[in-house]
Amino acid sequence: MPTTVLVGAQWGDEGKGKIIDVLSEDTDVVVRFQGGSNAGHTVIVGDEKYVLHLMPSGILHPGKVCIIGNGVVVNPVALVDEVNELVERGVDFEGRFFVSDRAHVVLPYHGALDSQREALSTGSEKIGTTKRGIGPAYSDKVARVGLRMGDLVSPDFPELLKGRVENANQVLIAMGAEALDYDDICREYSAMADRLRPYVADCVPILIGALKENKNILFEGAQGTMLDIDFGTFPYVTSSNATAGGACTGTGIPPNRIDQVLGVVKAYTTRVGEGPFPTELLDVDGETLAREGHEFGATTGRPRRCGWFDAVVARYAADINGIDQWAITKLDVLDTFERIKIAVAYEVDGERCESIPASVTKLARCKPIYEEMPGWLTRTSEMTSLEQLPQAARNYLDRLCELTGVEMGILSVGAGRRQTLRIKI
Ligand code: IMP
Repeated sequence: MPTTVLVGAQWGDEGKGKIIDVLSEDTDVVVRFQGGSNAGHTVIVGDEKYVLHLMPSGILHPGKVCIIGNGVVVNPVALVDEVNELVERGVDFEGRFFVSDRAHVVLPYHGALDSQREALSTGSEKIGTTKRGIGPAYSDKVARVGLRMGDLVSPDFPELLKGRVENANQVLIAMGAEALDYDDICREYSAMADRLRPYVADCVPILIGALKENKNILFEGAQGTMLDIDFGTFPYVTSSNATAGGACTGTGIPPNRIDQVLGVVKAYTTRVGEGPFPTELLDVDGETLAREGHEFGATTGRPRRCGWFDAVVARYAADINGIDQWAITKLDVLDTFERIKIAVAYEVDGERCESIPASVTKLARCKPIYEEMPGWLTRTSEMTSLEQLPQAARNYLDRLCELTGVEMGILSVGAGRRQTLRIKI
């Protein structure tokens, strides 16, 4: 497989973990490039379920090199939990797992600041974050006061940490939260540093070396295009670039060495947290999608908001990511619907709108213009080829591709590895 960037084309939770796991078979190196433990990538292997928050989803494949790139913000406690759990479950990754020494560290005050900001926010100020400290950690990175994994594992860590905790405590107290104890943090994080030190490395030579050896490299996006800090529904977004460009800045891969971009979309749409969502269904259809699709956040357990497929969103994602092919997931969730709708455009302020407005207040006023298609009322989750699919399901998929101008490379009809139809990839 050529060098591939895989991104979510909606608001996250598109089923990227499963697709990455499947593609890892043909890949030598899997690299996470942004986000942190706000992500939750679910992978089912046989009867076993794994929920990965920081570890690249390729980790379950023996022999594949997995890298957490510099663009990720790493919570060492969450990573150690994941490392230990995988070891306990018999996954061996010694010598093939690396964390960039340039990746920034998420510290307890980031989580405390995130939670306190959310608690104090009312109305439109509330983002509905995962409270994993992601925004404050990226803020510190950009403000040039963050600590990096290289700092965490260095002997200077206690000294470097001291001033940061003092500053954060001033802010926390001003916000009405409790100050954190420096000694506790230093002790806990020094222990985490000891556990993680063997994996912390300069990942640029590893990545560039793999490129020079013509290895197959897969860049694993987290969250989704509409949660991108620049292109998403700001301010109801995460704090990183979840779009394809983030793979370059988040790992060091030169843009001209990316061969293809794969977009992952659900056959319908979901969103967790606050913010506009034009095709959201607050009726029985929305409940059916949530129930059939088990739409609860893999990280926070929050119920996901559900709605029809939004071709305006998917087209926008295709354009700004340069998506060559779709991986369309969870088609089976639509199996029981008699009629299925697709938003083909919006109506806003009396005009037809074919693109995503930058203003969230304008997006909130957008009313979807729907096209309706007949459902197939047939169970698709055991189907193993396109030919087996009912004609109505094929028509639906063809229409999604036509409306977005992108062909389908992969179709997923269930959570298991074998419920994956590899059509062009
Ligand atoms: P944060 O990334 O925790 O700051 O949260 C910002 C927004 O992104 C919130 O609406 C979250 O629900 C959403 N979000 C963050 N990570 C994910 C994810 O992996 N899947 C879906 N939504 C996410």
